[in-house]
Amino acid sequence: MPPATPPGLDRAPRASLVQLRSFEAVVRLGGVGRAARALHLAQPTVSTQLKELSAALGLVLFELRGRGLAPTAVGQRLAEAVRAMGACWQQFEDDAAALQGLKRGRLRIAAVTTTEYFLPDLLGPFARQYPGIQIELAVENRAAVVARLERGEDELAAMMRPPAHLPLARWPFLENPLVLIAPNGHPLAARRRLKLADLAAQPLLAREAGSGTRAAAEEAFAEQGIHWPPRMALGSNEAIKHAVRAGLGLAVLSRHALAAEPASEGLAILPVAGFPLRRQWYLVWRQDRALSLPARTLLADLRQRLHVRARPA
Ligand code: PGA
Repeated sequence: MPPATPPGLDRAPRASLVQLRSFEAVVRLGGVGRAARALHLAQPTVSTQLKELSAALGLVLFELRGRGLAPTAVGQRLAEAVRAMGACWQQFEDDAAALQGLKRGRLRIAAVTTTEYFLPDLLGPFARQYPGIQIELAVENRAAVVARLERGEDELAAMMRPPAHLPLARWPFLENPLVLIAPNGHPLAARRRLKLADLAAQPLLAREAGSGTRAAAEEAFAEQGIHWPPRMALGSNEAIKHAVRAGLGLAVLSRHALAAEPASEGLAILPVAGFPLRRQWYLVWRQDRALSLPARTLLADLRQRLHVRARPA
């Protein structure tokens, strides 16, 4: 059996929306004349609408009180019901506008280089659900992402170390363990336990200046009182991996930049005390600017899918 018409809808057509609108205005403004003026209708038209409404519903909606008309108890209740219908319709219009807003548009996101290993996957469900939203993902190092945030070029940015000098809201969405890597087969890789000081004689390969990974590594070395200046700087995580594999040195890299089995790409994670460095990635946005509907929708989508994995800031 097909589903039945909802009961209210079955009976409501006896009253027209135009009658109900006039009726509500008469109750709210306290007179037919005022309602007619507010609705740009002739007074007799409103009077006729009220009579027809009363007849259609079989209810007495007004009574004489003093020198004027006042709604009966049931008339008062009807006015409330009409307002509730109006609120419901308004909600529908808001939702419709919102849905239209997700049909077309652009969403600019900046992301630090290491997130390129997983961010496209995270954006996938949103991109599939809203094919009309053009996503522009700029992948840069931390310094460049900070500069973009300063200029307000992107709505959202994914990064490890949000800058303190900007009014940013932040949401920690994923852990970013930083590991020390060596070429697979390196004598140090066979050791059960290592101290940072055991490594400092080895050449260190670092990301370029401006990299958040590099800054986090330098911070960790300084905390342990280790002076370990880089032997060489390379401009990408992939370049670092190639250089480590080629035996040019050791490096600190996000675990996310490595394969599930690092040996499969010729690399080994060293068991160094204090490592992995436990860092977080944040999604950040400027608090002094309103987020667009696509940006808010993406955030809500990610929050729903990732809340289990993220931990508080
Ligand atoms: P980056 O990334 O080294 O590419 O600057 C650092 C980060 O994860 O914030």
